[in-house]
Order: sequence, then structure tokens, then C-alpha cells
Amino acid sequence: MKKIKTRKIAWILLSIFVTITWIFLCDFEDSDYLSDPPCNKSIKIFTATGFFGQKIYPRFLSHCSEEIRNYCGITRRKPDFEKADAVVFHARDYSYWKSRWFFSNRNFTIPYIIWTMESPISEQNFPSSMNLTMSYDRNSDIHFPYGNFRRHQKSGENLEEIWKMKRKSAESGAEIAWMVSNCETENRRMEIVQKLMKLGLKIDIFGKCGIPPKKCSISEATSKCEFDLISPYKFYISIENSNCKDYITEKFWRNIRNRFVVPIVLGKQLYLNAGIPEKSFIALDDFENLERFKNFIEDMAENKTKYLEFHEWRNEFEIDDVLGEGSDNHGFCKLCQDLRSKKYSKSYSKPVENWHKLEDCDYKLGYRFLDDY
Ligand SMILES: *[C@@H]1O[C@H](CO)[C@@H](O)[C@H](O)[C@H]1NC(C)=O
Ligand SMILES: *[C@@H]1O[C@H](CO)[C@@H](O)[C@H](O)[C@H]1NC(C)=O
Ligand SMILES: *[C@@H]1O[C@H](CO)[C@@H](O)[C@H](O)[C@H]1NC(C)=O
Ligand SMILES: *[C@@H]1O[C@H](CO)[C@@H](O)[C@H](O)[C@H]1NC(C)=O
Repeated sequence: MKKIKTRKIAWILLSIFVTITWIFLCDFEDSDYLSDPPCNKSIKIFTATGFFGQKIYPRFLSHCSEEIRNYCGITRRKPDFEKADAVVFHARDYSYWKSRWFFSNRNFTIPYIIWTMESPISEQNFPSSMNLTMSYDRNSDIHFPYGNFRRHQKSGENLEEIWKMKRKSAESGAEIAWMVSNCETENRRMEIVQKLMKLGLKIDIFGKCGIPPKKCSISEATSKCEFDLISPYKFYISIENSNCKDYITEKFWRNIRNRFVVPIVLGKQLYLNAGIPEKSFIALDDFENLERFKNFIEDMAENKTKYLEFHEWRNEFEIDDVLGEGSDNHGFCKLCQDLRSKKYSKSYSKPVENWHKLEDCDYKLGYRFLDDY
């Protein structure tokens, strides 16, 4: 009995000791990076954190044109730190303790950059005294959206092909698909969707929150598997986990672009303000109630002319899936270009001044559709 107790206490003491040693002795964990070749590009971006625990190097530059890749590199080797042109912190991976080395060894002529792709509702973890911001928010110093519409000069799209793709209609008879893994969110999107289903609108939900077994994993988001799964549906639920200014993620871009669906979103104005053309999506809050919305969708699913009107934008625009593939609109490519051409002199005591504010979000946007509100 006594022996067990002593052992337990020893364990606890040992864990405390290891934690404290770890906090005080580690500058930053660069052991993973020692094998990286020295960065010999003329523009060097030093990454002070990972990206959700992963190396930021090198996949974030693989999106850029060759020209950019020739002069710009991402590095995390300690010897490159002094020569860096910028130091980037990914907000989710930032912690005061792990990052303090970068602040005590700071060279103030080198801009420190805070980067986030999360909404203000799920991300408020920022270091102070940053120089630049990078995010999907169009007020960021480096605007890094998840995607955007771009005018093209191509000849007419064959919209008939899209209709044929849809005519294969999903086995269940549903015209709407949703792939979702975050079931409970403050904007209560799941409850709104469940209410639509209760009204009789057929929706196939895949993923962690879905009833049918999931066929493609979320990590396979660009695979043929998802194309085969989603493209037969006419509509796709692209309601974000938070209703925030400019917060339009790959759930919108990937599906409208690669799977030829009409996205269903929550707040119309958020999308129009972000420069998304009208009649490329359908917004729930455009309708007086869910019954009206349901009738509209059911009508549209049966009426080819009406349905294809929501694809006509394809004759004018193409979509740049910034996170998907070759795109100089990727934040890191823009950062390379900016670091080469501009001299930054800016600073934020708190990087949240006029950026990434909770006031940019309205989590109650869809509450009027719920019974208890
Ligand atoms: C830069 O490094 C790469 C790979 O580490 C090497 O192939 C290349 O020759 C180097 N360029 C210069 C100019 O040193
Ligand atoms: C700070 O960075 C600038 C620009 O890279 C460099 O010229 C200067 O020597 C650096 N200062 C220190 C103290 O390392
Ligand atoms: C189909 O939609 C078009 C365009 O919105 C409309 O003019 C037409 O009357 C609709 N057809 C039917 C059968 O409802
Ligand atoms: C970055 O911000 C710090 C602290 O806010 C400031 O002292 C420094 O001059 C700024 N550096 C640049 C390059 O803007």
C-alpha cells in the first residue's frame, strides 16, 4: 500500500520536473529542422511555429509560381533566423512559453507576422507587438483568402454537362449533401439543418455527424472519392461553423469549384460583401422561413432552367482554390512578393486592433429559424 503511494508521488514529481525542464531549457524545438538544407534564397521566411503541429515548410510555397520559388524560401533552421526577412507565427500553434525565445532575441527591423485561418470565434490566441497580419480577412496586411472568383476569357461553359451530372441523382433521392465533422457549433447550424429535414427536405449528411456511413475521409478532401460522392447532388450545405466577415472556407470553394454544386449558406450579405457573385449560391436568410426555403429548393431541383441559372456565373468567372493548387494568391506567395517589393513599417500593440474581432461575427444569424428563439 505504502509502496504504491510512494511510487505515485515519485511519478508526479518526475512529471513536474520534466515539464519544468522542458519549459526552461528548450529555446525552441529545432531538432526536427537540423537536417533541412540551409535556406539560400534571397527572401527567407522564418516560421516560429508549426501549422497545427506540422512543419510549415515546404508545402506552403509549392503553390507559388516558379519565379517566386526561385527567390523565396521558408525555413526553420536556427542559423537562418538572423538572416530572415520575416518571422511568421501561426496563431493556433503559438504559445507564450514556446515562443518566448523569438521575443527575447528579436531584431526589430524584421517584421513579425501573425497568421490565422480560423474565425475570431475559435481563435483569439495572439502574441502582442506583431507587425503584420495574415488571414482571410480582407483587412489583413497580407490577404490570404481560402478562394476567390476571378474573371476569365474562356468560351462558354457547357452547363448541360452539369445538369447531366446531377441527373444521376443520389440513391437516397436527396438533392442536398453535407459533409460535416464539427457537429455542435455556436451558430447551431446542425439544428437548422435538422429542422429542414423535419420539414421533409431530403439531405444526406456524411462525415462524423452523419447518419450514413462516411465514405470518404475529410483528409481526402480533394480526391476522386469526394467528387464521386458529392457531384451527383445539386446542392451542398456550406454553412460555416461561424458566421463571420470574410470567413468563407474550403467548404464553399472546393464544392462549388470541383463538385459543381450550388452552395447553401446562412448569411447572404457576408458573401456579397466578400465579392461573391449573386446567383452562385443560395442563402437561408434570404427566406422568410424554412418552409419557403424548402419550396424554393424543391422547385429549383426540378426546373433545369432555374437550376442552371445558378451556374451561369461559370461563363464569366473561374474559381481560384487558393489552398488547392498552383495559385500565387496563396498567402505565402503574396508574402514573398511583398517582402521583395515593399518595406514594411507597421506595428500592432495587440494584433487585434480592427482585425479578427469578435464583433465581426454574428453567431445568432440563423437563430430566428429555431423554435426556442
Ligand atoms: C541552394 O540550395 C539548393 C538545395 O539545397 C541547391 O541545389 C542549390 O544549388 C543552392 N543554390 C545556391 C545558389 O547555392
Ligand atoms: C537586424 O536585421 C538587420 C536587417 O537584416 C541587420 O542589418 C542588422 O544587423 C540586424 N541587427 C542585429 C543586432 O542582428
Ligand atoms: C422554370 O424556371 C424558369 C426560370 O426561373 C421559369 O421561367 C419557368 O416558368 C419555370 N418552369 C416551371 C415549369 O416552373
Ligand atoms: C515591429 O513592431 C515592433 C513593436 O511593435 C516595432 O518596435 C518595430 O519597429 C516594428 N518593426 C517593423 C519592421 O515594422
